[in-house]
Amino acid sequence: MANYPTEPFRIKTVEPIRLIDRQAREEALQRAGYNVFALRAEDVFIDLLTDSGTGAMSQEQWAAIMRGDESYAGARSFERLAETIQKIFGFRFFMPTHQGRAAENILSALFVKEGQYVTSNMHFDTTDANIRARGGQPINLVIDEARQSTNRHPFKGNMDIQKLHLFIKKVGPERVPLGMITITNNAGGGQPVSLENLREVARVYREFGIPFYIDACRFAENSYFIKLREPGYAQKSTLEIAHEIFSLADGATMSAKKDAIVNIGGFLAMNDEPLFQRACNELILREGFPTYGGLAGRDLEAMSVGFWEGLDESYLAYRLGQTAYLAERLLENNIPIIEPPGGHAVYLDVGRLLPHIPQSDFPGQALSVELFREGAIRAVEIGSVMFAHPDPESGEMVYPMLELVRLAIPRRVYTQSHLDYVVEALVRIAQRGNQIRGYRFNYAPELLRHFTARFEPL
Ligand SMILES: Cc1ncc(COP(=O)(O)O)c(C=O)c1O
Repeated sequence: MANYPTEPFRIKTVEPIRLIDRQAREEALQRAGYNVFALRAEDVFIDLLTDSGTGAMSQEQWAAIMRGDESYAGARSFERLAETIQKIFGFRFFMPTHQGRAAENILSALFVKEGQYVTSNMHFDTTDANIRARGGQPINLVIDEARQSTNRHPFKGNMDIQKLHLFIKKVGPERVPLGMITITNNAGGGQPVSLENLREVARVYREFGIPFYIDACRFAENSYFIKLREPGYAQKSTLEIAHEIFSLADGATMSAKKDAIVNIGGFLAMNDEPLFQRACNELILREGFPTYGGLAGRDLEAMSVGFWEGLDESYLAYRLGQTAYLAERLLENNIPIIEPPGGHAVYLDVGRLLPHIPQSDFPGQALSVELFREGAIRAVEIGSVMFAHPDPESGEMVYPMLELVRLAIPRRVYTQSHLDYVVEALVRIAQRGNQIRGYRFNYAPELLRHFTARFEPL
């Protein structure tokens, strides 16, 4: 087995976890309507639901929290964050938001109107829903290799440039008010996008006069993948790579709950001054004054520190190594996953693990229930519950290209033996895979239905 980098930290504070017994797990599932989002976190032993806001903050972040300036306007904490964001992302203007979707909401309010399209490699659920909520249509144009779960393309998050070009020509650039890309591509396996591809994407958007915004949640992991995999970047620092990435765009949305390793926070950044003024008005309406944007001063401080820690290369080597370790152990045990593994998560390929369950019976949902039943492990379905939508023209259900369950790894939280426990549970589930059955909805809202839906077993 390959060697994986050891944690570049030691543990100073611990949070107890406990494993409830099988009967208690079964009762918890029934109470939750077989939706793992409705479980009590206390009943979960290993929580891989998300890497968002679940990281462990460092001593420097906790110390910075004590410096929080809670002034309503013009706080020192805002200035410190502005300096950090300027140094890393380089956009002329930015506003803090309480998390990524708040930035997406403002961006959609500014750009998206009924009947318009927003292109990306793949929009994540909240971006997708914010565009739909404004009457727009999110369009995913990732390369075909992203659909092939064992194809080890180094940049499976890349946009298909030809498809992007053709799509904009087909509908007309006036119907594409905004162009995006997600780094890394969370909905498609946490896969990175290369700088070569980002340059091409920027060129196409520029050619058609379409503003280009990056969903930057995992920009540091994406930068480190570029350093490791893209010719010409091995000697560049992750900071230099980040500079190059963001110099190509007109703006960015950020959920700092990922690569800035904070429990809450985000921002919206841009270069266009009149647009920024409009964005500020939206922010004031919904989030707060532009120097705090729905956060406390102490949250801004934790973010300022976290952005630098997230870019630290010894941390990133450990971080991607931990994901690679989990992936390799699953592959050794013939558990199908998206290869190569992403930065923040390993994605189980449920289409191959439970091939007897059709997408209409939610096989990913079934696997996420089994993970809890078997080991009190919580993971998230990224498949037909999250992403199936009726086709706007025919009304027929369109299912996502891959049926996945994501094992997201919180930052600096779990050890190798926690991951071994997850592998062992999955091996036991795979052994009885053919007895697992699908689910149907008891209740489902129209948008973002995975969060609150309730199910019953078939
Ligand atoms: C790629 C991507 N974009 C946007 C978001 C939304 O961020 P938040 O949960 O902070 O609203 C997420 C969160 O998981 C994400 O992974």
